[in-house]
Amino acid sequence: MPVLRIGKYQARYPLIQGGMGVGISGANLAGHVARCGAIGTIASVGLCHDSPHFSLAKHNYFEANSIVIKEVLAKARSIAGEGILAVNCMVALTDYDTQVRAAAEGGADIIISGAGLPLRLPEYTKDFPDVALVPIVSSAKAASLITRRWEKQYGRLPDAFVVEEPATAGGHLGAMTMEQVYDPALSLKTAVPGVVRFVAEEMRSDIPVIAAGGIWDRSDLIRAFGLGAKGVQMGTRFACTEEGDASDRFKQAYIDATEDDVVLIHSPAGLPGRAIRNPFVAKYLEGEVASNPCFANCLTHCRYRKTRETFCIAAALVDAYKGNWEKGLFFCGSNVTRVKRIERVPEILSELFEA
Ligand SMILES: Cc1cc2nc3c(=O)[nH]c(=O)nc-3n(C[C@H](O)[C@H](O)[C@H](O)COP(=O)(O)O)c2cc1C
Repeated sequence: MPVLRIGKYQARYPLIQGGMGVGISGANLAGHVARCGAIGTIASVGLCHDSPHFSLAKHNYFEANSIVIKEVLAKARSIAGEGILAVNCMVALTDYDTQVRAAAEGGADIIISGAGLPLRLPEYTKDFPDVALVPIVSSAKAASLITRRWEKQYGRLPDAFVVEEPATAGGHLGAMTMEQVYDPALSLKTAVPGVVRFVAEEMRSDIPVIAAGGIWDRSDLIRAFGLGAKGVQMGTRFACTEEGDASDRFKQAYIDATEDDVVLIHSPAGLPGRAIRNPFVAKYLEGEVASNPCFANCLTHCRYRKTRETFCIAAALVDAYKGNWEKGLFFCGSNVTRVKRIERVPEILSELFEA
């Protein structure tokens, strides 16, 4: 097994539990993964949705998010002890910069950032040099763009890259169009060696490249490490754990999902996303979805806010987290079909690494 070192943090196991919003990877999941020796990640998006700090009347969604990110990090830290905690912040969010600052101030060890190119990430964390910075990319071209900009503007290099494959991953996918989702150039088989080569030959560095998307068991790990990855990031399998922060109904939806239920949708953010076909998604695919009003102005580019096409993704993701099967948007990776029961985090890690 490779050793995964990101900035000054070295994990016992070369695995990151990926950030899953809204609320799917909160304090409990991230805290337990970190405590058990892998890297636990809190998804920062929309964390304030059911907090007393947030009030629709006060329109204080962004301010409340900042407060709650720190509260959730403190709770995760109380579980994780010395374990390594990351926060996943998405570039596409309106309050991206304040979320990143809150994560750094709240004691995150690592900030992982995708859903857009995190070109200004070092600016937001400049007072926290120990916080490791990890862009999520889908190609060497994106890795190169980010590296050049950071070096020129901030004199800083990324501490690792996560390479995520759109053909299998969950949530928003790093592809601009539906056709691109299955582009062989964005497969782990092509993209991981491409980014590894870029790091070694152009950056002249040994920062780790981490493979994400479609990874489930030990044979998947070995395949990823064979491509040159020094670690893996896994989402779907960890969403359906006892420690997972989602409702039991969310987890049951994962257990019940079959291959025919896994679909691609055009998200209001303008990116393809992978989700379970439930009554809400079925209606949306037929073009007749009714949505709750926009309550947060959460995305910089939102088709729903602009044109009332699509739906309010914040409301739909919160509904899924709470277990509303009729109205929620249940994001998932293609591996959701392999979920047969609710597992425990230590059980998964020992199956992967101790066998
Ligand atoms: C329910 C769900 C929500 C997700 N939310 C986010 C997110 O908020 N930000 C992000 O960068 N990635 C998100 N992802 C992607 C995961 O972090 C991870 O990289 C990906 O799911 C890995 O593929 P796998 O699910 O096949 O293991 C999400 C994935 C799932 C399944």
